[in-house]
Amino acid sequence: MKLLKTTPRNIKLAAALIKAGGVVAFPTETVYGLGADGFNPAACARIFEIKRRPRFDPLILHAASIKQAATLFKRVPAPALRLMKRFWPGPLTLVLPKSAAVPDIVTAGLATVAVRVPANPAARALVKAAGRPIAAPSANSFGRLSPTTAAHVKKQLGSGPDLILDGGKTRIGVESTIITFIKGRPVLLRPGGLPLEEIEKIAGTAARAPGAGRRSPAAPGCLKKHYAPAAKLRIIAPGQRVRPGGAAAYLAFSKRPAGKFRAVQVLSAGGDLREAAAALFSALHKLESSGARTIYAEKVPPHGLGRAIMDRLKRAAA
Ligand code: TXA
Ligand code: MG
Repeated sequence: MKLLKTTPRNIKLAAALIKAGGVVAFPTETVYGLGADGFNPAACARIFEIKRRPRFDPLILHAASIKQAATLFKRVPAPALRLMKRFWPGPLTLVLPKSAAVPDIVTAGLATVAVRVPANPAARALVKAAGRPIAAPSANSFGRLSPTTAAHVKKQLGSGPDLILDGGKTRIGVESTIITFIKGRPVLLRPGGLPLEEIEKIAGTAARAPGAGRRSPAAPGCLKKHYAPAAKLRIIAPGQRVRPGGAAAYLAFSKRPAGKFRAVQVLSAGGDLREAAAALFSALHKLESSGARTIYAEKVPPHGLGRAIMDRLKRAAA
């Protein structure tokens, strides 16, 4: 396994690896992805092995343009097209009926496929140079914290990928927002880097996901327990009194807690939800590395990017 900076030359090398059936970890604006040729089932199978991910959990295809993305869908409803035009490239994934071009391993046998056009310049250049969609889940071990730096990828996946492209810290820091459409209405499958409020302005008020909260979730990968750090995570009200002690770490939204903790991370001193989302996984990785047995995590306001932050915290606590 090699770790290389995202120079044009290394991106070319990464694209060649992907065309040859290899697996490459690369930065996107949300989190790092673990990518393979989306049209090569054997290469996609390696993603599942490296992540130790169950095969029933489908992958997201990354496209270079709306035009390329459209070839992966059977049909695109009008409000979905409006979202593509407004938010792509960017942290929005659309789940729509798949075209025959998409292999079953990518969708885990579902009739729909998840697609997005990433905004990170290195990611876009890579997908473009590969000349085919790149299937990429987040580049973490299944169920563990998502990676927002190349070092996070290396820590979890070690020598699994053929190459890790290092593009520094990811800008948004939480995964893309996943939207599907039911009877022409948008449905939120996973809150993420694009606030739901922005989506509703373009595509209308979101409908509730059918079966939300049931055991077989609409986004199969949105299992209740996910994004889990090695320590036990407990969600608390901001400023709530907790017993510090040597085995506890603290994830604050904006104010440092009183008392001595093994480690403390503050997501955004100014209380800014975007800044907090960008810092979330890095902060959790650090608290996890501190050796703490319990991480107390403060609630954040549940709107805008706060919705994605609370979603990840709740899953990590489950
Ligand atoms: O920001 C992101 O979306 C990152 C970067 C790398 O692009 N990727 C990412 O992929 O978060 P992953 O595999 O960790 O999460 C994708 C989620 C999973 O929960 C999966 O179950 C869901 O998308 N998904 C994929 N295809 C689906 C489909 N056809 N129907 C419903 N959910 C789907
Ligand atoms: Mg993931």
